Amino acid sequence: MDRLLITGGRQLSGAVEISGAKNAALPLMASTILCKGETLLRNIPNLKDIKTMSEVLANMGAAITVEGSCLRINTDTLLNKEAPYELVKTMRASVLTLGPMVARFGCAKVSLPGGCAIGARPINLHLMGLEKMGAKITLSKGYVVAKAKRLKGATIFCDISTVTGTENLMMAAALAKGRTIIENAAREPEVEDLANALNKMGAKIAGIGSSVIEIEGVDELHPVDYAIIPDRIETGTFISIAGITGSNLLIKNCRYDHILAIVEKLRETGITITQEEDGLRVIGPPPGTLRPADVKTMPFPGFPTDMQAQFIALTSLAAGTSIVKETIFENRYMHVAELRRMGANIEIEDNIATVRGVEKLIGAPVMATDLRASASLVVAALAAEGETVIDRIYHLDRGYEKIEDKISNLGGNITRVKGGRA
Ligand code: EPU
Repeated sequence: MDRLLITGGRQLSGAVEISGAKNAALPLMASTILCKGETLLRNIPNLKDIKTMSEVLANMGAAITVEGSCLRINTDTLLNKEAPYELVKTMRASVLTLGPMVARFGCAKVSLPGGCAIGARPINLHLMGLEKMGAKITLSKGYVVAKAKRLKGATIFCDISTVTGTENLMMAAALAKGRTIIENAAREPEVEDLANALNKMGAKIAGIGSSVIEIEGVDELHPVDYAIIPDRIETGTFISIAGITGSNLLIKNCRYDHILAIVEKLRETGITITQEEDGLRVIGPPPGTLRPADVKTMPFPGFPTDMQAQFIALTSLAAGTSIVKETIFENRYMHVAELRRMGANIEIEDNIATVRGVEKLIGAPVMATDLRASASLVVAALAAEGETVIDRIYHLDRGYEKIEDKISNLGGNITRVKGGRA
């Protein structure tokens, strides 16, 4: 199992290029199930989760080729309508194949994802929506089986805003008969990106980017050539890195309109963020002068839960106390115990973290527990005194493309050690 060795305390400088968004790429890959032909997806990050989704599609009969940051997916020969446990258990986003499969083939069998490190994460709303569209859903031996001759348009109210739930239902509704309305739809940029791609494929989706999405079903869709949006969470992670190391970085290939809440909150901590012609100029305050800030995670356009761990790492060195409230997932503070091992002073009570800034963090052996928790350890390690060894970085490899290359290009002291103990 690979580990990362980081010696902190260096100021970084230079430019970093943000990769395509993992959470936009995954639903777009699943959307290729909706039609025959060859889709070309551009700006796809080279990540473990992308490989897993490729395996899910290949297992269904799709032919996939990788050309640099492009993926060609040919779905002419899709046969198998199943996403097996072996793949779904490694990546819950495999459930995104359920909606498109049942819409195109009238039946789908997808292993029910279990709980995960950050919460129970049920898919009841995905299933409720498909049932409203006329699918017959059964659960058998750990699998969800959905059947429908042809899905019918319906009005679906989601009592919780769900990102992959909205995406699954939008893909299913694109080929349903009649009009579907999704109320309290997720408004995340990744949902918007999928809707834009579906419209390019011939779907009729209105209300894109709002909480009420209207989909007029069509009989057929066609493949497209589509470039996905940059990763807003990777952008936020690099802003946090600049902030905690007092560095001056240019962050290229990012969408400012997708990170307004992140920018506002990180500015409060004393980071200067300005738009320049070729990217975002980010300047961290001198070490020891970061300010505390309070934050509550919310669905988009609020502050994303996927930035909560990095924010805690950042404010663990602020001059004062920050209160962080996690409202999306019930168990998303696994990084706190690891940050404490580096000297952070953080208390958790229910879903509230009280982060009392300390003067310095000290490098230590720590363990990654999920994707964003791992990112927070990288943020902290870059500012800590001495060496930090981060174990189990396969979590990081699921969502951050070439992170050690990007950081060492900026002058950071970071190396990957291959293999070794678990
Ligand atoms: N929920 C339900 N029932 C459902 C669906 C969701 O109760 O049927 C609950 C969840 O348990 C959670 C809340 O609704 O409490 C929101 O979950 P959501 O469905 O929006 O999350 P998701 O679609 O499973 C995506 C991202 C996550 C990100 C969340 C929240 C992808 C592939 N994953 O997950 O990304 O944290 O939205 O923004 O898009 C990550 O990249 O590290 C990551 C975990």
